[in-house]
Amino acid sequence: MIEYLLVVFHIILLVHGSYCPIQHIHSGTPATGVIKSPGHPTPYSAPLDCVFNITTAASNVIQLSFSEFDLAPKNQLSDQCLDSYLLVVVVDRHGRQHVGERLCGNTLPSPINTMQSWMQVQFVTTSTNRKYKGFKIQYRVLSEAAIQEPTSVLGEPMFSGCGGHSTPGQLSGEILSPGYPNTYPKNSTCNWLIRVEARQRIYIRIVHLHLAPTIAECERASLTIIDGYKHENYGNNGDRKESTSETSEAKFCGSQLYYSEEGMKSYLSSANRIVVRLVTQEGPATSMIGEERIGFKIVWTAVEGLIGETGGDDALNGGVNGNGQVACKDQFVCHGGQVCVEQLSNSYQLEKCKPVNLKQFGHGICASRSRLCIHSSLVCDGVHNCVEGDFSDEQHCYSREIITSAALGFSLIVLTMLVLVCCDQFRKRRRLRVLIRERRATENGKCNNNNNNNSSTTRIQPNR
Ligand SMILES: *[C@@H]1O[C@H](CO)[C@@H](O)[C@H](O)[C@H]1NC(C)=O
Ligand SMILES: *[C@@H]1O[C@H](CO)[C@@H](O)[C@H](O)[C@H]1NC(C)=O
Repeated sequence: MIEYLLVVFHIILLVHGSYCPIQHIHSGTPATGVIKSPGHPTPYSAPLDCVFNITTAASNVIQLSFSEFDLAPKNQLSDQCLDSYLLVVVVDRHGRQHVGERLCGNTLPSPINTMQSWMQVQFVTTSTNRKYKGFKIQYRVLSEAAIQEPTSVLGEPMFSGCGGHSTPGQLSGEILSPGYPNTYPKNSTCNWLIRVEARQRIYIRIVHLHLAPTIAECERASLTIIDGYKHENYGNNGDRKESTSETSEAKFCGSQLYYSEEGMKSYLSSANRIVVRLVTQEGPATSMIGEERIGFKIVWTAVEGLIGETGGDDALNGGVNGNGQVACKDQFVCHGGQVCVEQLSNSYQLEKCKPVNLKQFGHGICASRSRLCIHSSLVCDGVHNCVEGDFSDEQHCYSREIITSAALGFSLIVLTMLVLVCCDQFRKRRRLRVLIRERRATENGKCNNNNNNNSSTTRIQPNR
């Protein structure tokens, strides 16, 4: 009886539309689905507070696209969404909540494409006016591996090589700015995606950088390294005020002269994705014309693990971590070594374009370099893959070559000598045999010769 009453109660609530329990949507694999306001397309009622909790596996991401949207308009006095609104909360991989702006009215909001695997959509209404149809949103769960780099825009069509991505299984690579080393295109945004295996991280080293004469000219051209899982802001009005990027981004302007201290021209990702972005407005300054190597060159390396990592983001730390050792089994462990900093250069103090991945260790302090663990095929491949200042992966290659060639040379000499000795023996034996034969021949020949001579003369004579 009670159950029956409950069902009736639920039906009454559903018809009224005010019944709105939290909906948990979980898909471990790529999938699509739809979430709607209660009773859609029948106008929604009030009061309502609905939450759609959408989650997926960490190897996937969630995207939302709005297909229908009809909510009460903004309050005319306050110009805010008060009567009804939709709120999208994106929870990033660090557990931080990114609360979007309140959405209302009837303009279709732009899609929300995140790199995260957890989202909450909240629908709140107090509007007693039952004439708005509500919303219909399609959610998509996609595999992280299927997400490509953001689109690139090339301002000058005669250039090429603006943007791209690494290939699956790639362990190391090089990125050059379009037109390198002569010039770079203006009015362009080039995005390169570096993606490695889920267990790996990415170490980026700037080999060369020359974008502008001074570090203050970030507007002219800048190079940015962006965490591939960073949650970029979204919003109706292109509102990009909120900044959540402090530690996940490194920005480089001007030239490498401003990043002279060790570690400043490099970046170690926190996960397996990174976007390298070149943004330009103008081309190179006229004062740069004729200078060699304009633009940038980057080398990236898939990092299997880090030895001596003491947790957190502090990559420049000593000590040996047992887990790191295990992860580095059968791989090459860079030697690391010490890095000593005398004093912080002026470029640290510059407000704009400050590279944020700097590890400051105060004045005149030494620290251990990060000991990267890299795939053994990267050793002696002609590219230095360990951290800045650590050349251990390419260090003993020359002597190794020498050892190989020496060993090869030695075996060659031995082989030659063997051949010579053999030949000599053979020749000696043959000469002996020939000698014996000759001696025999001369002994027999004494008689034969006379006969032959006679016969020949007798044969010739008749022709005369
Ligand atoms: C949403 O789902 C996640 C994962 O199942 C859970 O941890 C979280 O508490 C849920 N949120 C709400 C509001 O229920
Ligand atoms: C830059 O490119 C945009 C389109 O990508 C174009 O609308 C704009 O006019 C260009 N600006 C300059 C200065 O070339």
